[in-house]
Amino acid sequence: MISEAMQDRESPGDTPPEEFRRQLHALADWIADFRQNIDSLRVAPDDKLGATLANIPTQPPEQGDSFDKILSDVDRLIVPGMVHWSHPMFLGYFGWTTTAPGILGEIITAPLNVNAMTWRTSPAATELETLVIDWIRQWVHLPQEFGGVVYDTASVGVMHALAVAREEAAPSVRKRGLIGAGAPVFRIYASEQAHSSAEKAAIALGLGEENVQRIPTDSAFCMESSALREIITRDLRGGFRPLAVIATVGTTSTASVDRVREIARICREFKLWLHIDGAYGAGFAILPECESLTAGWSDADSIVVNPHKSLFVPLDFSVLYVRDLERLRRVFTLVPEYLRGDTVEAQKNYMDYGIQLGRRFRALKAWVIFRSFGRDGMAARLREHIRLANRFADWIRNDDRFELAAPVSMGVVCFGFIGAAKDKLDKLNSEIVERINASGCAYLTQTKLRGRTVMRIGIGNVLTTEEHLRKAWLLIREMADAIGT
Ligand SMILES: Cc1ncc(COP(=O)(O)O)c(C=O)c1O
Repeated sequence: MISEAMQDRESPGDTPPEEFRRQLHALADWIADFRQNIDSLRVAPDDKLGATLANIPTQPPEQGDSFDKILSDVDRLIVPGMVHWSHPMFLGYFGWTTTAPGILGEIITAPLNVNAMTWRTSPAATELETLVIDWIRQWVHLPQEFGGVVYDTASVGVMHALAVAREEAAPSVRKRGLIGAGAPVFRIYASEQAHSSAEKAAIALGLGEENVQRIPTDSAFCMESSALREIITRDLRGGFRPLAVIATVGTTSTASVDRVREIARICREFKLWLHIDGAYGAGFAILPECESLTAGWSDADSIVVNPHKSLFVPLDFSVLYVRDLERLRRVFTLVPEYLRGDTVEAQKNYMDYGIQLGRRFRALKAWVIFRSFGRDGMAARLREHIRLANRFADWIRNDDRFELAAPVSMGVVCFGFIGAAKDKLDKLNSEIVERINASGCAYLTQTKLRGRTVMRIGIGNVLTTEEHLRKAWLLIREMADAIGT
């Protein structure tokens, strides 16, 4: 047994406080410089696979290194190997949500480093989570009967929502499993434009990937309600058990918005769970002029909102709302003996609302960014992103070698180069994106719509200005000139 005195004398402890203070100041300067100079970095490296690892010793370190050395290695080895999602010329996916207050929120969270599994283990973290969840609920006009829980991602959110749908349709699955409970073959419906997290959830829940039925979309990429009804009816005749419909508000490729009200009516008629995937689009409901987006939401059973996609919270922060949150708790509450002392029945213990026990204090960064910008500040920025997307779309409309490939929605524009032989267009559109991304000057994505490869930009970065967009448009045209002729 080691004596107390010996333990004190020999404890390696932490970095001495004065040294830590110096390191923090150096880091603060590093972060401020990075943010201030980000425009001068390449957006993406043109590296081959393994380029980063080729320069880093693969042996685990035996002795410690100084922070100065580690930070200089970040500059030398890591920063050049990154795709800089925070760069104003990063126009991939939905743009990105890095902001100065968001960075501050992340930094404040680090020293607290708590586990927000129960109220007792983290009272302020639990209560703040409840608070910011309710702020978002109010901003996106969800009725009070919706309660929420913060997860890392929307994919995890839809899995939990469908677990509740499954339990309500086959009440003893939680206890006895699908076979033990004699569960039928369930079917889930989502449009052909919906996110693949639907299939991932079906895989995880033992429902089967093939039981996610994709419903055709109309010319604006919205789910065809008549097709939904037909496919549900066909499944019923075939002996399947329709379970849930996923309606999307802001699809991944085009940000199209399904007609939730019509879909809700069908869900009511067939007694199906209605989940709304508002991962990207729901955040736009904080704009008064976008309130029509929320039509039908109050009829949903669950809805996912990803403030890390459109409400400026740094990755990761996704909220699953369930009408009557107790429905979610019933499926997942399970208190092992060693946690009994730290679970107070009367309080909310977020570990009861999902499969995760250990949970980060995600609410703090959301609270910091929401307080820093306010709803007004976030709305002004979203409005600017919508304006920029429409500006970009105007440039496309005015150049007959390009065309819009989908209606412009929120910050997303899908477009194609059409100034060459038809059979070459897929390859050319893909090549324009690849060459621009390899140039390090901008970053776009590509997608397939109605079988055609098209280019796509997503505007969501507070640093992206009209000037940046103009530069990207010039690059696209120059690249099309270079390879399209
Ligand atoms: C519409 C939609 N739903 C869900 C997801 C999955 O989001 P997450 O990465 O939070 O799981 C995405 C990702 O882009 C998405 O676009």
